[in-house]
Amino acid sequence: MGSETKNTGGPRHVAIIMDGNGRWAQARNRPRLFGHHAGARRVREIVEACPENGVKYLTIFAFSTENWKRTQIEVAGLMSLFRRYISKEMKDFVKRNVRVRFIGDRVRLDEKLRGLMDEAEELTSHCTGTNLTIALNYGARDEVARATQRLARDVAAGKLDPEDVDEETLPKYLDTRVLPDPDLVIRTSGEARISNFLLWQSAYAEYEFVDTLWPDFSAEEFHKLVSSYGGRERRFGGVQS
Ligand code: FPP
Repeated sequence: MGSETKNTGGPRHVAIIMDGNGRWAQARNRPRLFGHHAGARRVREIVEACPENGVKYLTIFAFSTENWKRTQIEVAGLMSLFRRYISKEMKDFVKRNVRVRFIGDRVRLDEKLRGLMDEAEELTSHCTGTNLTIALNYGARDEVARATQRLARDVAAGKLDPEDVDEETLPKYLDTRVLPDPDLVIRTSGEARISNFLLWQSAYAEYEFVDTLWPDFSAEEFHKLVSSYGGRERRFGGVQS
């Protein structure tokens, strides 16, 4: 099945901000959606590369709460790509033992897409290989606001004492509550920004910003970044001793 995750001492949870699809398409004189389709093929390749790289959790930023500001054509094209991607890959995820989850606010997504998301989560709920989390209509501040709302409701209902709220409490209300924090966050396309992605969860993560545009990001480059994880700390340790 190829789903056994190697224990490499590398990052167990890698999160990726997949940027540069638009520029990749533009460089080929093609519409932006052409770049998003090429990006979707890379998602598949990187998911497949996780087990041999010791990556048990992969979280990818597919659509942000800010992305609604794009043209109606691009937004509709992306939503249709997500629908097609999920329904096409679903059975393959099961075959490859990939457990799929979604984070973000589903309320604004169309019913058909929401149904496919539920179905994919349900169908793969027994899978024990790679944990793939797709962030769809996700924004970290929005996630914290929604979490705080749920927490406040529990306080109002007398289920939670405000005196007991500490660093361990809020994560239990976040969309990521069942996931460990990311160890490594990668952003492609040369931008060194976090763009409202997993702000709470990445407090101690290592960051890698690479120039490669997402549709060119290969399993080989993924392997290189994963292998050099922790290198900075080790070098620092060497200087110190
Ligand atoms: C950012 O590139 C990318 C996105 C907003 C969409 C990410 C989506 C994919 C990679 C498609 C497939 C994903 C799944 C889960 C099927 P950009 O358009 O901002 O690029 P630019 O900065 O060059 O304009």
